[in-house]
Amino acid sequence: MTHELLAKTFDSWAHQGRHSGMELEHGDVVRQVLARMDAKPGESFLDLGCGSGWATRLLAQAKPGISAIGIDVSPAMIAQAESEHRLTIRARYEVAPFERLPFPERKFDRAFSMEALYYAVDLSKALGELARVLKPNARADVVLDYFAENSGTAVWPKICGVNMHCLSQDQWTSAFQAAGFAAVEMERVRDSRGPGNAADFKPSECYADWATWKAVKDTGSLWIRAQRAP
Ligand SMILES: C[S@@+](CC[C@H](N)C(=O)[O-])C[C@H]1O[C@@H](n2cnc3c(N)ncnc32)[C@H](O)[C@@H]1O
Repeated sequence: MTHELLAKTFDSWAHQGRHSGMELEHGDVVRQVLARMDAKPGESFLDLGCGSGWATRLLAQAKPGISAIGIDVSPAMIAQAESEHRLTIRARYEVAPFERLPFPERKFDRAFSMEALYYAVDLSKALGELARVLKPNARADVVLDYFAENSGTAVWPKICGVNMHCLSQDQWTSAFQAAGFAAVEMERVRDSRGPGNAADFKPSECYADWATWKAVKDTGSLWIRAQRAP
């Protein structure tokens, strides 16, 4: 897997307008997580794999004085983020890979990421970079739908045509700890809209049938809260 292939893949998603679908699909869980993240006025946030930047902007508006920087390997996603940006929001966006964050060490108070970290080309390097740019004791809130316990998502890498790290909850804990995070907690967050009605379900590439869709919605998203070591 290369950053070039990831950029090409997600540039194409941006050109097809799939960023809007992601905002719609991920929005409910992200808002639930944001409401419970206890963001403090004036904190600086990094959003890893920000896509069109909708969550970066939500983070920046969570409390007065918060600033947020979204990074993404896809130039087209970052262009989309800039086109949706409003000048009154303290957010900005940069093209960068997880594995080479263009920031000094100990820059950020907090980090956030939605449905992105498992695409890392080199996961231990990406988590090491995350630990490097966070202040001591700072928290990373990472949300994932693709993880080993969520078996209905196992087909996603084949559909997307890119490599994705399929880690169990225990493996994510070990990966964060190895990168310099001390306390790692997890919980599942379910979309408050639920799976909906079977009669309205339409099969798609990612969800071939109602049973798969329902199983994924019932499993919920994995919310990882990892605190950088002091
Ligand atoms: C599934 S999208 C999620 C986007 C956004 N967080 C959302 O919820 O709408 C994953 C994003 O991660 C970015 N990404 C994937 N691998 C990356 C890497 N190694 N470095 C930086 N960004 C990456 C992709 O370009 C894509 O925009």
